[in-house]
Amino acid sequence: MKLLFVCLGNICRSPAAENIMNHLAAEAGMSSQIECDSAGTGSYHIGNSPDRRMQAAAAKRNLPMIGSARQFTTADFTAFDLIFAMDRDNYQNIIALDPQRQHQDKVKLMCDFATHHSDKEVPDPYFGGTEGFDYVLDLLTDACSGLLSQLTSTDINNV
Ligand code: 4NP
Repeated sequence: MKLLFVCLGNICRSPAAENIMNHLAAEAGMSSQIECDSAGTGSYHIGNSPDRRMQAAAAKRNLPMIGSARQFTTADFTAFDLIFAMDRDNYQNIIALDPQRQHQDKVKLMCDFATHHSDKEVPDPYFGGTEGFDYVLDLLTDACSGLLSQLTSTDINNV
C-alpha cells in the first residue's frame, strides 16, 4: 500500500506525516506493507531537508525526520494508492491537476483521520513559533494513528 502525504513546501507538515506514519507502521509490524512518501504542491523548497524547527521538535520525541523535498506531479496519481492533503488549499491544488476527476477518490484530507482533535486542517507552522511544530506533531500522530487503524481494519477501498 503506497501512501503519499502532501503539503505546500514539503519541508514541515508532509515530511512529518511521512516519518510519523513510517514510525507507527514499524511499531505495528507493518513496515513491509505500508510505503510512505511526501511531496509539496509548491516548488520553493525542492531538494531541501525538513525544516530545522521540525527536525528539532521531532528529535524531542525521538522521531526521525528525514527526507528531501520534491514537488507533487500528476504521475503521483497513479503511483500511489492514497494521497493525503494537509489542508484544503493543498487538496484543491492536487485536485486541480486531475481535471478529468479520475483520481479524486484517492485524495483525502489528513485531518479526517484524527480521532482526538477536531481540526479540519493541519495548520501551516512555517511562519509561526516553535510551539506550532509541536502541535503539528501531536495532530499528525493522532491522524496517522487513526489512518493506520483504518488501513488495518478495512479494505483499502473503504478508506
Ligand atoms: P509546509 O510548510 O507546507 O508544511 O512544508 C511551508 C513551508 C514553506 C512555505 C510555506 C509553508 N513557504 O512559503 O516557503
